[in-house]
Amino acid sequence: MASPLILCVVGARPNFMKMAAILPALREAGLATALIHTGQHYDFAMNQSFFQQLALPLPDEDLGVGSGSHAVQTAEIMKRFEPVLTQRRPALTLVVGDVNSTLACALTSVKMGIPTAHVEAGLRSFDRSMPEEINRLLTDQIAALLFTTERQAALHLAREGIDATQVHFVGNVMIDTLRRLLPSAPIPAEALRRLLRDTPDQAEAAVETPWRGYGVATLHRPSNVDDPSVLRGLLEVLAELAQRLPIIAPLHPRTRKRMEAHGLEHFFSVPGLWITGPAGYLEMLGLLAGAKLALTDSGGVQEETTALGTPCLTLRPNTERPVTVDEGTNTLVGSDPQRVRAAAEEILLSGGKAGRIPELWDGQAAPRIAQVIRDWV
Ligand code: UD1
Repeated sequence: MASPLILCVVGARPNFMKMAAILPALREAGLATALIHTGQHYDFAMNQSFFQQLALPLPDEDLGVGSGSHAVQTAEIMKRFEPVLTQRRPALTLVVGDVNSTLACALTSVKMGIPTAHVEAGLRSFDRSMPEEINRLLTDQIAALLFTTERQAALHLAREGIDATQVHFVGNVMIDTLRRLLPSAPIPAEALRRLLRDTPDQAEAAVETPWRGYGVATLHRPSNVDDPSVLRGLLEVLAELAQRLPIIAPLHPRTRKRMEAHGLEHFFSVPGLWITGPAGYLEMLGLLAGAKLALTDSGGVQEETTALGTPCLTLRPNTERPVTVDEGTNTLVGSDPQRVRAAAEEILLSGGKAGRIPELWDGQAAPRIAQVIRDWV
């Protein structure tokens, strides 16, 4: 008898590193898989570059939805995913993370009577103004199998009425991929050279900079980049900090667009502040591994810095990943420039807090997931 089909969904950048660990583990466990890409992210630097570096197989289908408002994007994914389910009739749809593709595909699947597994379930920021929090809450409510990365997640799910037998604490698949690929990550100088490939003037200046450490910054949350005064405040702190410690800031296209729309282009030419396009997975890993400090509003970077032991300041008032604060190297500072400045100074003086690796972030999360799914089907 043919092995039951597990339909695996990716859509946006943070999904790719997770699926890169899960797909081979499912196949290793003897399960049939198909990879469906919704097309939520589509630029080379946000998409194909990750497939190449992570050695992800090309998707069996790309739904090509692209960008849009939340309603348009979610609806378009649902419309295009439904026929895929009709045609392939999988035993299970597997979604990861908290992006619009996650919720859209889970909802479509469950309404067609096809159960869904959610990897990275139970994370809660308790901030319902974040689109990701809505995606997390709703996906978990309808998932049949829920895989968690940290112990607290099970408490949230229990409070929301989800049966404990559906919940499996397996660890963190992001860290499976990080451990596998860290040895292939370039040294920081090479990572920066690759990031500045298209701007020879900047590349030349970077080579001439006497590097004694550097920081890495990423910014893309709507709450940080859509309001011009918040974005300006954060860029000012980065520019100021860059006078003491060079800062490499690979930016999401959304942030670049907002900087241009809000008349903040002068930050592109601040000495010591290297604003580049989005980094590839390996370049980012190399940069984070060697950095004195990371400043970020990304969920993935909070986890990666904890795994790498790099001090991290999270530019948000809350996090859905509290283990990175309680046990890891992460500190929440919000987006108030004064607080960010003081916290960064503290790290430069003291070296930042020493963390430990959270439970089951051991590189074996994906095989645990595959085992549960094999038993389940
Ligand atoms: C999405 C996720 C967010 C995740 C982030 C990682 C949702 C609700 N948000 O946010 O949780 O942290 O991905 O990157 O799903 N754009 C491009 N090229 C691309 C993709 C996007 O230029 O390849 C620009 C477009 O202007 C687009 C904007 O970025 O409108 C936002 O893209 P979207 O996918 O809607 O959300 P992200 O901000 O990327």
